[in-house]
Amino acid sequence: MSVWRVLRWLMVMIVMSDAIMCLPNTRHQVWRVGSRGSNVVQQLLVAGMLDVLNHSGSSRTVRVPPESLTEVKDALQDAGIPYQVLIHDLAAHLQAADEEGRERRSADNSSCTVSSCPAPLNTHYMTFSQMEWYLRDVNTSSPTRITVSSIGKSVEGRNIWLAHILPSQPSDKAVWLEAGLHAREWISPAVALHLIHHMITNTSATSSVDVFIVPMANPDGYVYTWITDRLWRKNRRVNGGARCDGVDLNRNWDSHFGVGASNNPCSEVYQGPSAFSEPETKALRDAMLKLKDNLELVLALHSYGQDLLYPWGWSTGEEAPGKHDLIAIGQVFTQAVKNATGTEYAVKNAAEGYYVASGATDDWAMEALHTKYVYTLELRDQGRQGFLLEPANILACSEEIWQGITQVIKKINA
Ligand SMILES: *[C@@H]1O[C@H](CO)[C@@H](O)[C@H](O)[C@H]1NC(C)=O
Ligand SMILES: *[C@@H]1O[C@H](CO)[C@@H](O)[C@H](O)[C@H]1NC(C)=O
Ligand SMILES: *[C@@H]1O[C@H](CO)[C@@H](O)[C@H](O)[C@H]1NC(C)=O
Ligand SMILES: *[C@@H]1O[C@H](CO)[C@@H](O)[C@H](O)[C@H]1NC(C)=O
Ligand SMILES: *[C@@H]1O[C@H](CO)[C@@H](O)[C@H](O)[C@H]1NC(C)=O
Ligand SMILES: [Zn+2]
Repeated sequence: MSVWRVLRWLMVMIVMSDAIMCLPNTRHQVWRVGSRGSNVVQQLLVAGMLDVLNHSGSSRTVRVPPESLTEVKDALQDAGIPYQVLIHDLAAHLQAADEEGRERRSADNSSCTVSSCPAPLNTHYMTFSQMEWYLRDVNTSSPTRITVSSIGKSVEGRNIWLAHILPSQPSDKAVWLEAGLHAREWISPAVALHLIHHMITNTSATSSVDVFIVPMANPDGYVYTWITDRLWRKNRRVNGGARCDGVDLNRNWDSHFGVGASNNPCSEVYQGPSAFSEPETKALRDAMLKLKDNLELVLALHSYGQDLLYPWGWSTGEEAPGKHDLIAIGQVFTQAVKNATGTEYAVKNAAEGYYVASGATDDWAMEALHTKYVYTLELRDQGRQGFLLEPANILACSEEIWQGITQVIKKINA
């Protein structure tokens, strides 16, 4: 063999091995960690060694990347916490389980067909391009009901769209709904788009309040979940000098920045180099600041858990102002949801019900804007499908949330 042929062969091997290494989740394992493991799991999460996929019930299901398998195993063994390997290679598992995956990645995502995009899809999740198509369409076809504008651009230059649903009478009250901040929580933007659709077609439910909806707050991360890694959570910031990308946008707000978050770029809860370091959170902040005094309700849609969480998230020791009203209005929401579809949601304090975490939209809105009613809504389900919630849930989930939100708006303006 000539030197050139050897060199060429080497080049091909390097390119190929690179391609194999680049498949996300290759050799990542999924473990179920025993019931007393939540503190250790939280520490390992902050240290950037694992990702929590299932937090329902007392055990935790975690994704462990190959480079931290040994350390996580040692940490659990030292603490005497049992664990069980559920999946040995997540990439292979996802590929096998994800039948529509290949279709999804090669889909013509830049356009809509007449039968699909004039309204949010009931049986499929929309691509980011389809969302944009729909928003432009309603902006043109219903100018008296809605105004769509961009409040800023993402790290990779995509627009962050704000839909303003116009009241039929002059109003000095505003409601803010944020969706899609965490990329893999696909039900969140899907429900937000359905809410926009409901509010345009039903003029009576929100006739006396201005409703502002950001249906997709993290477009780069969302596109990345479609093309590359379905379980991606953060934005797509390239963290200079670090081997991992992304900032957790729900740890990047300026409210007790850094508590219950991580300064390790490899962590799923990486807070970023400073509060509001990311263009996505800056854009949301600036748009909310303009409405400051009018805001009476801020609701951030996430998944999953079927919980309506009220502040604070950063501390279990301090009580949020107006806690009793937050709980009472929360119960109006869960009642209306249950009445609509029978689905059970619970009202919980964020820090006690989940885990201590700072830098989230809800704490910032309460602390900086003094908005009275502030919640993070964890949508369907309770963990059976988790982030991979089947699209068959979109319609019913949207319907129950629509009922819940309209009842809450009615109640707080009564
Ligand atoms: C929405 O329509 C208004 C005019 O009614 C226009 O000024 C604005 O640019 C449109 N927004 C988008 C995103 O096309
Ligand atoms: C519009 O919303 C109101 C309040 O939720 C509800 O009572 C009414 O039935 C809805 N109308 C339609 C046509 O859906
Ligand atoms: C959409 O299509 C373009 C061109 O066909 C492609 O580059 C891109 O990766 C596709 N996916 C998404 C989600 O935009
Ligand atoms: C429950 O739903 C029914 C119709 O499905 C409606 O008539 C009733 O007002 C609802 N009750 C509450 C408390 O939302
Ligand atoms: C998540 O955990 C709950 C409670 O342990 C369990 O019932 C559910 O099946 C789990 N979901 C998945 C996707 O493993
Ligand atoms: Zn989330």
